[in-house]
Amino acid sequence: EQNMTSLIMIFGATGDLAKRKLFPSLYRLFSKNKLDKFAVIGVARRTLTNEEFQQSVRESVVSALGNKDNLDEFVSHFYYQSHDVADSSSYITLRKFADKIDDNYQLEGNRIFYLAMAPEFFGPIALHLKSDGLTDVKGYKRLVIEKPFGHDLESAKELNKQIRSAFLEKEVYRIDHYLGKEMVRNIEVIRFANAIFEPLWNNRYISNIQITSSETLGVEERGRYYETSGALRDMLQNHMMQMVALLAMEPPIKLTTDEIRSEKVRVFRALRMVEGDDVNNYFVRGQYGEGTIDEKQVPKYRDEIMVDKESNTETFVAGKIMIDNFRWAGVPFYIRTGKRMAAKSTKIVVQFKDIPMNLYYQTDKLLNPNLLVIHIQPEEGITLHLNAKKAGGHLDAQEVKLSFANTGVHAMNTPEGYEKLLYDCMRGDATNFTHWEEVAYSWAFVDKISEAWKNAKADFPNYEAGSMGPKEADELLEKDGRFWWPVTGLEVDICK
Ligand code: BG6
Repeated sequence: EQNMTSLIMIFGATGDLAKRKLFPSLYRLFSKNKLDKFAVIGVARRTLTNEEFQQSVRESVVSALGNKDNLDEFVSHFYYQSHDVADSSSYITLRKFADKIDDNYQLEGNRIFYLAMAPEFFGPIALHLKSDGLTDVKGYKRLVIEKPFGHDLESAKELNKQIRSAFLEKEVYRIDHYLGKEMVRNIEVIRFANAIFEPLWNNRYISNIQITSSETLGVEERGRYYETSGALRDMLQNHMMQMVALLAMEPPIKLTTDEIRSEKVRVFRALRMVEGDDVNNYFVRGQYGEGTIDEKQVPKYRDEIMVDKESNTETFVAGKIMIDNFRWAGVPFYIRTGKRMAAKSTKIVVQFKDIPMNLYYQTDKLLNPNLLVIHIQPEEGITLHLNAKKAGGHLDAQEVKLSFANTGVHAMNTPEGYEKLLYDCMRGDATNFTHWEEVAYSWAFVDKISEAWKNAKADFPNYEAGSMGPKEADELLEKDGRFWWPVTGLEVDICK
């Protein structure tokens, strides 16, 4: 049995993330009896009473999950402390308060510090937690931090240094919420719990792998952050690279945190680094213009709030990632992600090579290749595309799809990423958090691309809101004699 006893201190407790994700996730754990003894101290600058804070926790749970009967009991575990992140005396007050709560609830000195704040505070807070004695506990201490982990390799190193002066690597839980998604976690199970995929999972049988993560939302109110980030740092450096690593890694010896993470690191070490002019051969950037989403006219990126009228920030990126190792030599991992695209959807398409010779030639078309589609969201499932005999007279082959869907009861119970990540953190399982080495390799890779882009002005906007991105993203695959499999719903519509 896991020990789920902890004092959780949420820095940024009046912020959006705490309200939208953390409180509802904690409530779900609570309502499933997954928490033993626990208390939460919400920390933020604002002055609030415990009661006011509890009320805001209650409201956020209700707005995410509807009305619940045991809410009073749940919110009674929440406390609030107004705090100045730059002031030592503020941390000392907090320490005394935390010690008192710890005593009252008998929390065994276990502490989780969750930094749901702007990234510039991560380092300073970590340093204060140590120097002002908050990490000096008899139980465990764990630090959970949101992205972005730095802005590039340089700044990530600096941040890591600050954090690591207060916490050991194994005490640091760097969130990548894609690793909390049910079907992202399923990648490893699909690969390693089946006899029929792993023997084919290499450059002899796989032609290419395509990962699309498209969003219909624009940059919303996050213009200030997004202007310094762009799709490359916002989505590719973390979420997309993590999916690539899970698809490409060798089978781990065991399912332990260290084994899995070190296999992922080995993938990153084999990444083909592209830089300078060569970046154009591998990556495409885009920025949305005006267009239509859900039948509504939406403005171009450059007209969004807190965005520069001549912004050079990419809201879309497509790329061809090569992993130069024995298993993957010659197999492109095509990725694309962007804002204001045609659909909110994340899918992985594994395209197998054509059979050596087609005996079932149909007059108007070639046999379809076998595809394995992993539906990450919004649908969750797997589809395997095969060819089988058309019912009736001739030996014509036609495509059939075998699908598994995580629907109905399961989908309703599918916990959101944050619930699982919080649960893992309390259990001390860091498998689905990113290790510093993964972060560092991934930044090194992405830095080369952003350097190349920084020096060349882009011709933006270059795709219409509501489309699947700029034409250059299609051309990237066309150059290789391929195309993006158009994916909708739980099925892939084949239209060659
Ligand atoms: C976040 C990015 O990490 O992921 C956002 O900062 C993006 O810009 C989000 O919208 C996408 O996550 P999801 O779970 O909606 O696919």
